[in-house]
Parts: sequence; C-alpha cells; structure tokens
Amino acid sequence: MTEKLSDVLSRKFGNNIREGSMISNECYISELIKIIKPNVILEIGTLYGCSAALFAQYAKKVFTIDIMSAPETNKLIAESVWHFLELGKKVQSFSIVNDSEKGELIASLNFDMAFIDGGHTYEEVKYDFSCVKKCGIVLFHDYKPSGREYSDCNNIRYDDIVKFIDEIYPAPFIWGPHCGKFALWIDAHHPLLRSKYFLQWKKNNAQQEQGS
Ligand SMILES: C[S@@+](CC[C@H](N)C(=O)[O-])C[C@H]1O[C@@H](n2cnc3c(N)ncnc32)[C@H](O)[C@@H]1O
Repeated sequence: MTEKLSDVLSRKFGNNIREGSMISNECYISELIKIIKPNVILEIGTLYGCSAALFAQYAKKVFTIDIMSAPETNKLIAESVWHFLELGKKVQSFSIVNDSEKGELIASLNFDMAFIDGGHTYEEVKYDFSCVKKCGIVLFHDYKPSGREYSDCNNIRYDDIVKFIDEIYPAPFIWGPHCGKFALWIDAHHPLLRSKYFLQWKKNNAQQEQGS
C-alpha cells in the first residue's frame, strides 16, 4: 500500500477513526516493523482496530485484546476496518473480562512482538508488561510526560506510563512525535540488538530525537 493507512481509513470511516489511535504516527513504526519482521504480534488495546490493521500489513498474524466493558460499537468498527482492508483472516481479536483472564490468554499464545496500548495506569502497564515480556520485544505507546516542554501538547499526559517505562531494564529506546512518543523495550539477549539494520535505524532515530 503506497498511501498512508491513516489516510485510507479516514477517507472511508471519517477522521474520528484516528481519535485515540497511534495510526496517525504510523511513519514512526512502519520502518521498524519491516526491520523486526515479526511473524506474530500481540496487541493490548484494540479500540477501532487501526493499530492492529497497521501491524497486520507486516506480520503474518495479529492477536489483539480489549476489555469486555469497551463499547460494543468499537468492536463493530474494528471488524469493519479489518474487513474493509481484507485483513479479517490475519487479525484475531479477543475480549477479556479482567486482567486474570488476560494473563491466562496471553500465556496460551505464542508471539514474537507485543504492543502495549491498553490501560494507562502504572499498575495496568506493569501487569501487561509482565504478561508479554516473554516475547522479547515490547513496544509501548503514549510515553507522554508532563512538564513545561510539553505545554504545547494540549492532550492528556501519562506520567504513570512514563514512570513504569523509565524503571524497566534494559532502558527502552524512546522516539517519536513530540507530544506522544513510543518506547521500545528489547530483552538484553535478543538477536535484534545485533542486527546492523536495527542499529542503523536506532542511530537515525536517535539523531532525529536530538535534533527535535
Ligand atoms: C488507546 S486505546 C487503543 C488504541 C489502539 N491501539 C490504536 O492505536 O488504534 C486503548 C484501548 O485499551 C482498552 N483497554 C483499557 N484498559 C484495558 C485493559 N486493562 N486491558 C486491555 N485493554 C484495555 C480500551 O478499551 C481501549 O480500547
């Protein structure tokens, strides 16, 4: 697909489809996923299915999990998004009642990369990370600290997420748009850390971060 996925989806479903989604920032993610080449991605936080659709452009399979209490209309929109993009066979979605059910489900799944974009409290992010870190590569959305340098960002800040991400080891790589960055955690023994393509990608993005 040469056109940006966010543009394709906005044209079909309206601009509201981007609300609360990382899809508008796909340019920060697509190149990375092409380098990681994951077979299976597990996502926590489906919403309207946009990020799952983005991942499904690159991975063979995407598991996406949301909570049962999320509005039923969100699930219907997500199904329409995947149907429209002909990704219905690649994306498998799950609704969970609570964290314990989520933990059991994730323990039963095999995946080689995870995306955490569900609950935004410290405890929720910590729990989600404990469930998915076995895969070795975990991407977080919404690294949004409070602070004067972000006063031009008139959206919600997530200090809890920042606090947790800043605590984990090895320290995640942080990059992305000024008002809402991504964080990438990689297990210290993961072979990706020795990939020259990944190291080049990281260097390029670190330089952009310094320049921004
Ligand atoms: C920011 S939205 C996800 C956006 C989506 N990943 C995207 O970029 O298009 C957060 C989603 O997480 C779900 N959620 C909230 N708490 C959760 C939890 N504890 N476990 C799983 N999903 C949760 C919400 O229902 C909501 O749909």
